[in-house]
Amino acid sequence: MSVNLKGRSFLTLKDYTAEEIEYLVDLAIDLKKKKKAGIFENHLKHKNVALIFEKPSTRTRCSFTIGAVDEGAHPEYLSKNDIQLGYKETVEDTARVLGRMFDGIEFRGFSQDTVEKLARYSKVPVWNGLTDEDHPTQVLADFMTMKEKFGRIKGLNFVYCGDGRNNMSNALMIGCAKMGVNFTVASPESLFPDEGLVGLCRTYARESGCMINITSSPEEAVKNADVVYTDVWVSMGEEAKTQERKALLKPYQVNSRLMSLTGKTGTIFMHCLPAVRGNEVTEDVIESESSVVFDEAENRMHTIKAVMVATLGD
Ligand code: CP
Ligand code: NVA
Repeated sequence: MSVNLKGRSFLTLKDYTAEEIEYLVDLAIDLKKKKKAGIFENHLKHKNVALIFEKPSTRTRCSFTIGAVDEGAHPEYLSKNDIQLGYKETVEDTARVLGRMFDGIEFRGFSQDTVEKLARYSKVPVWNGLTDEDHPTQVLADFMTMKEKFGRIKGLNFVYCGDGRNNMSNALMIGCAKMGVNFTVASPESLFPDEGLVGLCRTYARESGCMINITSSPEEAVKNADVVYTDVWVSMGEEAKTQERKALLKPYQVNSRLMSLTGKTGTIFMHCLPAVRGNEVTEDVIESESSVVFDEAENRMHTIKAVMVATLGD
């Protein structure tokens, strides 16, 4: 398999083929093995990477920091209070300045347009650490975890239950469609994913040989599921909608009754974290044997390291 991702940005999985996605997952599995064996190869020696965060983060920030340091790079954290991105300096100008100093840039924030502009104007690889629309590095960690648990990604039945139009639902639908994973969203109709995105994902799905299903019935959705996935009901920046979402999404809670309706014994429970226990998932499910949420969290670091090594490494 000859995959070369040098110099590429990682803004959305729409830009990546199934072969490239699998390559990043396999590279992460290899880097994980090496780290556990105490082997560090300094693929990013003498590189400097900027980590821009408009929104808070535990996993993503720590993954970029540790991934960079493990490979010999210097990470520089820049919160929205440290720089003046988009309000006292244009995104284009900040991008050009950072591109003269840094070898790569991570961005977490609100607008997908900002991360795209950073890539266009900095001319160095830019990595999307989450926007309102997308969260592609999370999906790599989820696929890595699925490969570790099932030995494969393609052909699995994946069900996402909850807010069907948030960044995680979008990113998972894109990734599953590319990889040939049957993807079902169960959410209230008012939170169904964007029709244009569903149409695009169905074109990917035709090529990879899988189905994209959208339903308002969680009970129907989970039948035969290998993976049941959920995310918070209120994403960062939408806090004003908390009460409305709780009422709307209550029937979509992942609890032991819903897990039992898969009809399979090996179904795993996944969540990108942070989780609100008692909302989108019950305490007993997230703490159950079938829950792999902390494997996913650890795999964030290995997959993010793989993205940096593949796009920026020697
Ligand atoms: N899953 C995830 O992106 O976590 P953080 O918000 O902690 O980075
Ligand atoms: N949908 C969540 C994901 C957090 C990793 C949010 O945007 O807050």
